[in-house]
Amino acid sequence: MTATSATFDAPAAREDLAAWYAVNGRHGLPWRQTRDPYAVLVSEVMLQQTQVERVLPYYRAWLERWPTFGALAAAAPADVITAWRGLGYNRRAVALRAAARAVVERHGGALPWEPRELLALPGVGPYTAAALRAFVRDEPVAVLDTNIARVVARFVLGVPSQRGIPAPRLRAAAEALVPGTGARDHNLALMDLGALVCTARNPACDRCPLAPACAWRASGCPPPEASARPPAVRFEATARFARGRLVDRLRSGPAHEAELAAILPEPHRLRLAEYLAALEAEGLATPIGAGAWALPA
Ligand code: ADE
Repeated sequence: MTATSATFDAPAAREDLAAWYAVNGRHGLPWRQTRDPYAVLVSEVMLQQTQVERVLPYYRAWLERWPTFGALAAAAPADVITAWRGLGYNRRAVALRAAARAVVERHGGALPWEPRELLALPGVGPYTAAALRAFVRDEPVAVLDTNIARVVARFVLGVPSQRGIPAPRLRAAAEALVPGTGARDHNLALMDLGALVCTARNPACDRCPLAPACAWRASGCPPPEASARPPAVRFEATARFARGRLVDRLRSGPAHEAELAAILPEPHRLRLAEYLAALEAEGLATPIGAGAWALPA
């Protein structure tokens, strides 16, 4: 038993959480109505850096157009990148297609569950692998997304947020809560609790099923220490902004470097060659001769 798991009654907490989830959970989300590994992978990759509401129409359209690993593996990179427009972090689209190709070419079209093979798929890291195990196979693993990490940090560790908590400590605390059976609903319930009740800024402890046993609440809900985080960089000043703009332009057809330079704000223009080289390395752009670029065919 870990030091953290001795401080609360895990079965009782799970029961209270399950009762709350049965009534308040977001059961209608389409990726919760399937156990298809492909559909769950698509949803998890889309949800990694994009809000649920924004993902919904993309998820539906994607599965209609490419319903299987095989269909996505056969898709042209340019079509996949174009369909991703508006979701951001375009590399995810390239990685998802590469994962589909690997599943088809190395695993006969079925997602591999052997840990090394699963983690070797492009774009599949420890988070996504855990999500697949829990949501497709109901395996007793902790899915540590941001919401779950915050709930666990508060409820188990008694701290206001997961920031600054060493990953192994957070993982051990989350794992101490996971039931032997029913890990799928358990993780979904924690996700929803973090999204709907135990929010970062305004936790609604009066509506929280875990409040009576919450370590953070027991210590008086100490606020986070004023963080010494550097001021946020304006998005328009980031390379991600500039590169996103370049990919966006290429979505409507090939373009010459002169035109690509012209669509970048002044400070980014000098770095055009660097941005294009990075996009090429990531499979998001390809030179087609005479100084022109396109999405990969
Ligand atoms: N349901 C399953 N995975 C999810 C996620 N990553 N975010 C929100 N709801 C989900």
